Amino acid sequence: MPLLSARLRYGAAAQIFHWLTAILVVAAYILSPGGSEQRVYSSAADFNRQTHETLGTCVFALTLLRLLWRSIDRTPEDPPMKPWMMRSAKIVRVALYGLLIAIPVAATMGAFLEAHPLTLWAIGNIGPMFSPRHDVGQTVAEIHTTLGNVILWAAGLHAVAAL
Ligand code: HEM
Repeated sequence: MPLLSARLRYGAAAQIFHWLTAILVVAAYILSPGGSEQRVYSSAADFNRQTHETLGTCVFALTLLRLLWRSIDRTPEDPPMKPWMMRSAKIVRVALYGLLIAIPVAATMGAFLEAHPLTLWAIGNIGPMFSPRHDVGQTVAEIHTTLGNVILWAAGLHAVAAL
């Protein structure tokens, strides 16, 4: 399969970006740490949380690379469908890109505002980079949790639209 997309078909690179993103998002979701802040940042939850943070940060980096790739690669034409279907599919696609950026950004900002570092495998602790505002951090962390659930619904809609 060619690396670049053709008029009617996505190329290998676009497909790899797509499926790697899907796998990483599902893995981050399955391993998402739940419960109180104390529990999430307890040493018992360290491995789970750090794995989740690493997977989520990979999603962020991959999305930036994917957007860069999209600016170089062509976007294949959509198959023939009703205009409302085409519009809805486009809205869901744009929403998914927005969520892939907003979820890791909200998570990292929430953690920093709560005075916690971001901890990545093989790298270790990063930050916090802002002075703490614990109340704001808690709200941003809750937004992260909500968006983390929304992306699964949006991905479900996107899969149904693709079918
Ligand atoms: C696309 C990537 C991500 C998805 C889908 C996702 C999803 C979620 C979900 C659904 C929860 C709530 C779990 C529950 O309450 O049962 C959660 C919690 C959490 N996530 Fe993520 N997450 C992602 C990326 C990240 C990143 C990059 C970080 C790095 C800081 C992170 C840090 C956390 C932390 C610390 C919690 C615990 C509570 C909170 O702060 O909301 N997540 N995540």
